[in-house]
Amino acid sequence: TAALAACAPGGGPTPTPTWMPPAGPMLFPRDFVWGAATSAYQVEGSVAADGRAPSVWDTFAARPGVIKDGSTGDPAADQYVRYEEDIALMAGLGLGAYRFSLAWPRIQPTGSGRANAVALDHYRRMIDALADKGIRSAVTLFHWDLPQAVQDAGGWAERDTAARFADYAELCFDAFRDVDIDWMTLNEPKTHAFVGHWYGAHAPGLRDPDIAAAAVHHQLLAHGLAVERFRAGGAAGRIGVALNLIPVYPADPSYADGVDPLDARENRLFLDPVLRGTYPEEAIGTLPGQLPADPDAFAALQRDGDLGTISTPIDFLAVQYYGVTGVDGSGNETQIAPTSAASWQQIRPEGLYDLLIRLVRDYPAVPLLVTENGIPDPSSHVTVDDPHRIDFLRAHFQQAARAIGEGVPLEGYYVWSLLDNFEWAEGYQQRWGLVAVDFETQERIPKASADWFASVIAANAVSS
Ligand code: NOJ
Repeated sequence: TAALAACAPGGGPTPTPTWMPPAGPMLFPRDFVWGAATSAYQVEGSVAADGRAPSVWDTFAARPGVIKDGSTGDPAADQYVRYEEDIALMAGLGLGAYRFSLAWPRIQPTGSGRANAVALDHYRRMIDALADKGIRSAVTLFHWDLPQAVQDAGGWAERDTAARFADYAELCFDAFRDVDIDWMTLNEPKTHAFVGHWYGAHAPGLRDPDIAAAAVHHQLLAHGLAVERFRAGGAAGRIGVALNLIPVYPADPSYADGVDPLDARENRLFLDPVLRGTYPEEAIGTLPGQLPADPDAFAALQRDGDLGTISTPIDFLAVQYYGVTGVDGSGNETQIAPTSAASWQQIRPEGLYDLLIRLVRDYPAVPLLVTENGIPDPSSHVTVDDPHRIDFLRAHFQQAARAIGEGVPLEGYYVWSLLDNFEWAEGYQQRWGLVAVDFETQERIPKASADWFASVIAANAVSS
């Protein structure tokens, strides 16, 4: 393993050297799935419609000063109302799939009990309308909008929340059991645990590393329990989990020792339990790069059988890739690549290749999907002129094609995002869409990148 580690992202002194794309087009496999992604709270609006109850994000966003522009997810891009228009847009782009999330506070407003039929009807209409246009549904069950009632009972600090989630998931599997859906249990459990429960910048706005560690374990348990319910229920479709992964490189080859703790916290804390049934010990502790929680308290959360449940085999791993991070001489995170308008995003397309190769090398064979990748506009204004997005996506698609060429089982690629939307603590000031939204009028205006993406999809190929 020492030799492997020497060239590994999250394990190696040397990032892969810059790679030159071929002059001609790089073709994708015949059945490759091209999609775009959103999430419920970020696009739906209609926060009080059809029996929806508040989520932690409604509560959090209402607190003065926590969202940059003082906004909330109401009305966002009004997709709860405008979904037919949006599906027509998707059809125009030639999308093969749409990744969106179901809002738990619509389907189970109090976080337990029977399903709210009106909400399920809404999503049924949406899934059917997508299918009518030949667009497959890729559905996330939890994209951070925990019912406030569940938070009031302790939220992800509590083990019971995992059981609540499994019940909710089962209601959804049953409601759409006839549809060939790619289900994702959780979206970025790391972001939700760390940014929501440790840094306090996302809902529920807590700043406690021990609660963050509990949110890691209880979300992963929720994932595993939901996969078990899915298998037991025999619905059509497949199931996986969406993890945001980030290759870690030393800023200088002599800093290689700092890679492991940060890689353990950022990547293996989620990959290992799901795909190997173990937790990496290096993830939690007092070293720079570790989650500064109490390891004994974390161990005490775990009951016999939990890791077996969490590692119930999945059908695909959903990978969300935005960029890389570096480690400095003290083991702290540092900048090693240019950033976008999102200060956390360090852009390095080759990192996607390194990551995909690493997943195949280090984990049991599982099909892969990239379920998010994208870049915000440089300014907060509505624009259709987004050459930076075209350059970014082209370079990343090329790295995906390169990895596929080397045998990586990558089956699809979803751009974040279909539309400009509510970018969490950034409000509406950070625009990630292929399609611009004028939030005054809710007008949709495709950006240049949307047309470019449509041409990639039509050719099923990316050209330099
Ligand atoms: C990750 C999240 O899943 C999504 O909600 C967010 O908008 C994008 N990345 C961009 O930050």
